[in-house]
Amino acid sequence: MLTRKRIEALAEVSTLPLSSRKIISALSNDATTVYDYEELISHDQALASKVVSTANSAFYHTHRGIAVNSIDQAILVLGLDAIRNIALGISIFKIFPVPYEALKQMWAHAYRVALASGFLASKIDQSDKEVAFLAGLLHDIGRIVLLTVGKEGELSRFPGSKGREIIPAEQEVFSCSHMEAGYWFLKGLSLPEEVILPVLYHHEFPEKAEHPLITAPVYIAEGLLGGYPGDEAADGAWSERAKALAAEYAIGQEVLDECLAILAMDNEFIRAFFEY
Ligand SMILES: [Fe+2]
Ligand SMILES: [Fe+2]
Repeated sequence: MLTRKRIEALAEVSTLPLSSRKIISALSNDATTVYDYEELISHDQALASKVVSTANSAFYHTHRGIAVNSIDQAILVLGLDAIRNIALGISIFKIFPVPYEALKQMWAHAYRVALASGFLASKIDQSDKEVAFLAGLLHDIGRIVLLTVGKEGELSRFPGSKGREIIPAEQEVFSCSHMEAGYWFLKGLSLPEEVILPVLYHHEFPEKAEHPLITAPVYIAEGLLGGYPGDEAADGAWSERAKALAAEYAIGQEVLDECLAILAMDNEFIRAFFEY
């Protein structure tokens, strides 16, 4: 319970850095216009380069041959919803200082799961690939939240576990999982349930899930990337549940293979994404 209180305090608007606060509240507001987006994003150099970089990724950039090199072009190519969700996801990451090299690995993992979630959602009728992308990008934010709220004594007890082993380790040290930590934190930022429930469910998919058209692709994506070569921060595993869900949404092996092929093409972007 103590951890939950600390996490909720972390999400309190008054404690956020001013730049993140401005962007998160503007991007969460439906009345924000296309001009506001351009203005907001162009004023933040790091954010602008990431948005432009994403527009050029193999996942988004279907018009091969024309490089996107400005925010207004990126809005044209990707659409406003995509830009909004990319910028919002990146701004939430920016709340956290990056004290460890290992966090870069975690970000690269988050970006891969985001691309895979968006791709799988694009294959599911009535799903929304932009929302799935944002949920995928934020799926492991709880790991960073736990590192941030953890007190020094707790962190030194935190083992350098890998893969799914991190979940029991988190339970032992913090009495909660990174799925709960992420969910509480994002709820504190007032993000909608369709974005934050996939965060809560991404390792344990309930029998009857709400927002299944978003939660399912994020869960499948996390499983698919479980053993992804070079992903040092992968914490998922391909499970019977992931297989069954993929079958339920008619995601066959060829779609999974295509998803992995796109990720391989995007490797360079993924590596560079958080370097700016
Ligand atoms: Fe996770
Ligand atoms: Fe993950």
